Amino acid sequence: MCWNSGWNLNWNSYLEKDRKLVSPSLLSSNFVALGEELQRLSMEGADWVHVDVMDGRFVPNLTLGPPIIKALRRATSLPLDVHLMIEQPESLLKDFIEAGSDLITLHVESTSKMSELLNQIHNHGRRAGITLRPKTPLVEILPYLNQVDLVLVMTVEPGFGGQSFMEDQLTKINELHRIRREKNYSFLIEVDGGINEETARKAHQADVFVAGQYVFRHPSMREAIQSLHLK
Ligand code: DX5
Ligand code: ZN
Repeated sequence: MCWNSGWNLNWNSYLEKDRKLVSPSLLSSNFVALGEELQRLSMEGADWVHVDVMDGRFVPNLTLGPPIIKALRRATSLPLDVHLMIEQPESLLKDFIEAGSDLITLHVESTSKMSELLNQIHNHGRRAGITLRPKTPLVEILPYLNQVDLVLVMTVEPGFGGQSFMEDQLTKINELHRIRREKNYSFLIEVDGGINEETARKAHQADVFVAGQYVFRHPSMREAIQSLHLK
């Protein structure tokens, strides 16, 4: 298997990095040339690749599943940051793991077996993240914070690219930052939705920026990514 062996080793150093990480969302890429898009991302400085999985039920949109992730895995050595927006992820989790996802992020609203699933991901040597819809209060994910490698804060309603950044979600990022310091947790804080140079500055307490339209529609992908690497 073509596996990115640096992924595990790099995790601890991510928190100490003197800049942010950037995880461009493939949702805004050119789907007929995914292989070339992955090469471009790697050449232009992306840190991870964000893959949005939607099932038409948890969100009103459909994207891709394990066979495509398997193909992406073979085409890049960048870590695959997989955001599952699907009902009952337990039914397909094994397939997403086996397809080669490096980090799998689950919605707290999508399953009643969160702890079990986070363990399953870890038992296969992958990284586990948790996320929540904008309307879901942060308290819903607090019981899992000692179990996750990453918390994803959604700053748009999940389902589509190109929406406007929801400023009222900034309080979640700041709160997570405070909790992490107080409890000595080591999860990364990732933010997803409406990210560009300006909104990234507002969300500066996050560690990882997901960006779809901003990165793929920018006249210079390199400049777009660099502008999000701010500290
Ligand atoms: C929305 C997805 C996002 C989306 C972000 O459900 O989770 O990852 O692709 O797209 P932009 O950056 O265009 O808002
Ligand atoms: Zn996403």
